Amino acid sequence: MRQLPDLTIAEKLVHTGFIFLVGLGLLVAEAYVYVTVGGKHGLTVQAVAQHYYGNRSSSTLQTVLPRMMSYAGMPASEQPKMTAAIDHWIANGETQQEYASSVKPFIDGNCLKCHSVAMSKVLHNPPLVTYADVKKVAQVDTGMSISTMLLNGMVHLTMLGVIFWIAGWIFSKARFPSLPKHILIILPFVAMIVDFSGWFLTHQNPVFVWLVLIGGALSCPVALLEMFLSLIQLWVLKPRPTT
Ligand code: HEC
Repeated sequence: MRQLPDLTIAEKLVHTGFIFLVGLGLLVAEAYVYVTVGGKHGLTVQAVAQHYYGNRSSSTLQTVLPRMMSYAGMPASEQPKMTAAIDHWIANGETQQEYASSVKPFIDGNCLKCHSVAMSKVLHNPPLVTYADVKKVAQVDTGMSISTMLLNGMVHLTMLGVIFWIAGWIFSKARFPSLPKHILIILPFVAMIVDFSGWFLTHQNPVFVWLVLIGGALSCPVALLEMFLSLIQLWVLKPRPTT
């Protein structure tokens, strides 16, 4: 079998073009993950877990309520009553009945001066006029939805599968010891499956975030390593003398 250093210039050029273009694409993909998944402190374990699992201890409404009640100038003696009413309503399934009897009076009396439809356009905050408005901000954050994960899976598994296949096929012609070569070739495929399963498991329980991290670290980065090694073989190693 002809190995990478022995290929014709035309073959070397087509492989090099692929490696530069797709390698850049994979680097851009890594940057995209960093920007979209990373939190305030960068791409931490916690930020990745929250991306798939969400922050289920609290809704937006409960998180901002103490600050908003003081914006509204509510007397300190009234504030615990509103907090308790909202906590009870959310814990009991956010029904419309309970909303009307125990939550709406607090909202109407304290919040609408800034959260009416007209004011919300000025202040860029959510309107809190109807039951549906308030229910929306009372939603607990449960992370990435199953349908988004399926869509991302469809795109990732097929696109990366093809990229890993081509990168692995080029690298299979490298002048390289067999065992490490075989491991490097199969690793991105296995890692991608670990990563994909990790999304769904982390959505159920954040302890599985390690699967996502290990899968992510061994899929695209290993394919990039294969491409880099292939590039060196294409242009730096000398061809075998033909006898
Ligand atoms: C003085 C005006 C004012 C009052 C009164 C007020 N808010 Fe707000 N609210 C804002 C502004 C401005 C924002 C958007 C910026 C921010 O989060 O501080 C906001 C944002 C919010 C958000 C969305 C936060 C997010 O991160 O998406 C919720 C929920 C909310 N307010 C609830 C309430 C509730 C409940 C009350 C009544 C207790 C209330 N607000 C009273 C001005 C007000």
